[in-house]
Amino acid sequence: MRLKDKVAIITGAGHGMGEAEARLFAQEGAKVMVADILGGEAERVAAEIRNAGGEAGAAKIDVTSEPQWKALIAKTLQTYGRLDILVNNAGISGSSVGDPDGIDGWNRVIAVNQTSVFLGTKLAAEQMAKTGGGAIVNISSIMGFVGGASGHPAYGASKGAVRIYSKAAAVRYGPLGIRVNSVHPGYLPPMLNATNAGERDDKIALTPLRRLGKPIEVAYGVLFLASDEASFVTGTELVIDGGFIAQ
Ligand SMILES: NC(=O)c1ccc[n+]([C@@H]2O[C@H](COP(=O)([O-])OP(=O)(O)OC[C@H]3O[C@@H](n4cnc5c(N)ncnc54)[C@H](O)[C@@H]3O)[C@@H](O)[C@H]2O)c1
Repeated sequence: MRLKDKVAIITGAGHGMGEAEARLFAQEGAKVMVADILGGEAERVAAEIRNAGGEAGAAKIDVTSEPQWKALIAKTLQTYGRLDILVNNAGISGSSVGDPDGIDGWNRVIAVNQTSVFLGTKLAAEQMAKTGGGAIVNISSIMGFVGGASGHPAYGASKGAVRIYSKAAAVRYGPLGIRVNSVHPGYLPPMLNATNAGERDDKIALTPLRRLGKPIEVAYGVLFLASDEASFVTGTELVIDGGFIAQ
């Protein structure tokens, strides 16, 4: 019960790592608002958490929209009365936008991966400040440290921005009792296209532990940063990558 009675919003929680985080947070006693652009998937995850004895609600949100962020936070307050934790997990790969080197593709990657983190952090911090503090965990990537190896420049640019934005936000909001940290996963399904066997083998070969990570292995790190166990941890980076950037 490491998050007993905490109220958490997790974006992109209808699938993948966000889903694993939502399930783990609920097991640890949190009341979780499962938020995703795929409203049906958010409903599915929340219902499964409730069926397993946890507390969860669902909300549809496009994290690039400030009005939709305001509505999400209002719904969370209406449902659970407070907000203690935000995990900015929603994200897209460069290959999901058609041409990430075209201006529309670039803008979409930056909006979903980077601008969303600014919007969510700003609006959640406003609320958390009223109740004495909170914890914000922003999901960046190993591509927030290094270029190449995979993905598109737009993706790396967005994830690098999340890394430094998290430090700037930690400095700004620290005096209000709000901690902000970033998490940097290495190669994991599902965002990594595991159906492409050649690509998958390349990623495994690049990872010192010689395997892909699992969503739950990232979720455990996010749990630590979100919990009171990390009460003196802010502005830091937690790399969960099987050793990739140690090379
Ligand atoms: N899988 C990896 O190899 C890897 C590595 C490093 C970092 N990451 C990051 O981890 C996070 C989760 O990745 P994943 O692998 O679980 O991906 P995923 O595609 O399984 O999940 C992402 C979720 O975000 C949602 N989403 C997408 N756009 C959205 C929007 N505009 N508004 C709200 N929700 C939206 C999707 O519907 C999906 O449920 C992302 O930020 C990703 O960049 C992934």
